[in-house]
Amino acid sequence: MLYTLKKATPEALAQIEEEKRIRQTKEIFLLFSLGSQFDHLIKQEIEKLGVFCLVADPASVTVEDVKKVHPIGIILSGGPVSVYDAPPPFDCKIFDLGIPVLGICLGFQLWAKHIGVKVVPAQKREFGTHLFDLFARSRLFHGCPPQMSVLESHGDKVEADEKIKILGQTVNASVAAGEHKHLFGVQFHPEVTETEFGPQIFKNFCFEICRAKDRFPAAKVAQQKIESIRQQVGDKKVLLALSGGSDSSTCAYLLKHALKDKKGQVRAIYIKGIDRPEDEAHVLEYFGNQDWLELKVVDATERFLAVLKGKLTMKEKRIAMREVYKAVLEEEAALFGASFIVQGTLYTDISESGHGYATGAKKAQIKLHHNVNLGFSIIEILPLSDCVKDSGRNIGREIGVPEVLLTRHPFPGPGMVVRIEGEVTAANLVIARRADGIYIEELRKWNLYDTVWQAGAVVTQSITTCTKGDDAVSGHVIALWAVWSVNGFTARAAELPNDFWRVVSRRITNEIREVGAVVERKSDKPPATIEWG
Ligand code: XMP
Repeated sequence: MLYTLKKATPEALAQIEEEKRIRQTKEIFLLFSLGSQFDHLIKQEIEKLGVFCLVADPASVTVEDVKKVHPIGIILSGGPVSVYDAPPPFDCKIFDLGIPVLGICLGFQLWAKHIGVKVVPAQKREFGTHLFDLFARSRLFHGCPPQMSVLESHGDKVEADEKIKILGQTVNASVAAGEHKHLFGVQFHPEVTETEFGPQIFKNFCFEICRAKDRFPAAKVAQQKIESIRQQVGDKKVLLALSGGSDSSTCAYLLKHALKDKKGQVRAIYIKGIDRPEDEAHVLEYFGNQDWLELKVVDATERFLAVLKGKLTMKEKRIAMREVYKAVLEEEAALFGASFIVQGTLYTDISESGHGYATGAKKAQIKLHHNVNLGFSIIEILPLSDCVKDSGRNIGREIGVPEVLLTRHPFPGPGMVVRIEGEVTAANLVIARRADGIYIEELRKWNLYDTVWQAGAVVTQSITTCTKGDDAVSGHVIALWAVWSVNGFTARAAELPNDFWRVVSRRITNEIREVGAVVERKSDKPPATIEWG
């Protein structure tokens, strides 16, 4: 799958066509990510609307590339730089194509400068929530009230100029929103929850301004999937591999709707051992005690440890983990008398694992997913194998999957295995789970969880001297990472408050006896990857 458009090569254009087919659309939006910490939230908001939004690299995509891709709308995010001293790389001729543009913060300043409007340092930096007064009519604000709270975070501002129709202002920005022909801009961030009516602004941009027509027909697709599962399963029993992530949770709800009249037909297996404590808690909370599904937690810790014994490289560990995953599901299916195994495998997982689907052609293997091509002895049903992540999520929204399950941070299939350096032992598995539990709990407490794309805690092989009580002892060094990213393809180390790091570090070293120190990984991807291994 194409995660980021770099150039409109024939291969990239073919991949875009393939993805349009999967999403049942002829339309595409491009999101130029200029490096704001909120970029993934823009993508999430657009995707909730059921339209196809591809991330574009501003450093390499030119006006010629855009012409070939033919988007119906372009969105430019905010970013950390300033348009007058260090403008972000972007081919401003794109603004002259007549394609509607929504510029957010830096994106707004970029088009304003291009049409000859002054962008200057603001006397007062605005950061935080302010009241926005809307005083002109615009399709961008259709359905919004005359005054609303918005989140601003900027040091520069667009000056008033007759070329721009000013739509509204905040206390420190006299041009907090404006338009010029097909160019629309807001100085605030409609993608964050602190901005009221943000979803309405995106909806207006996509449907009122860009006139998108092809919304992913999630309700209809869900209905077809429910019907097809009902037909295929009949009275037989089904075993569901349930991790509690968005894909397997959506499969659970598809089964719920397909087989709701027949109690005892669905058993969900949650495999414990290399998982996060948070996943287990969520699965128990949302799927325990349901009359349409019987949840069984299988503790496979010992089995994972047995196959991982002596394995030192991440690659060997990833392969070993798959064996246990498959064996547990096979055994549980036999115990339950299931005729089918259901997994939340996506089209993307199949494609990345090197299995061409549309053409049957073999594709390059990017990473072997734990849930692809396991060769089960009974029939596998993969209800989402024709979906990408966000179309799967849209189906989930239609059929009642709780939002908290749909928008959780991604978690790698091999779980904690890739977050432990060297051999995975019983002791360091416990440390990894506890450190993750504290870290994620604090991210949620500090309201940072949604602003971060993903975060993890790694048990390194570094051992540090530390003092606990009166004795000098030694303990593991835990490396914490948190990233801002738009799609995981590239990522920046998230900048989180020092007070937050202090609390997390104190808690991890105090509450986990075996930990001697906590460090923060500050590297971006590339060159680092998001996961440690
Ligand atoms: P990297 O580490 O490659 O990760 O920068 C990018 C994203 O992919 C996730 N990831 C995986 N997900 N199976 C998965 O299902 C895997 O083997 C795997 N490896 C990495 C990673 O968590 C990040 O979100």
